[in-house]
Amino acid sequence: MTAHPVGPKADFEPGTARTVKFEGVEPIAVFRTEDGEFHATSDTCTHEEWSLGEDGDLEGTEVTCPLHLARFDIRTGAPLCFPASVPLTSYPVEVDADGTVSVVV
Ligand code: FES
Repeated sequence: MTAHPVGPKADFEPGTARTVKFEGVEPIAVFRTEDGEFHATSDTCTHEEWSLGEDGDLEGTEVTCPLHLARFDIRTGAPLCFPASVPLTSYPVEVDADGTVSVVV
């Protein structure tokens, strides 16, 4: 497991997400909730193929895929409604003392 830095905490607006890519790893969505929590999951919706980091709708700790409205819990990756039934992979996120956000893969 390696911590991959994705940028300073201040660059992540609360209530937003972004997609990050590391060599040899699937694309990952990094979320910052309105409450300031960071979470990371696989980026691609498990129903079909759509980027949740680029295009998902984040509300609280749930992200909605805009394509067919599947919802996932970003804390665990668990699907919350159909048409998704397969969980996203969940990744730990660390925030260093200097404010650098890293995803552990
Ligand atoms: S591709 Fe995400 S709900 Fe269908």
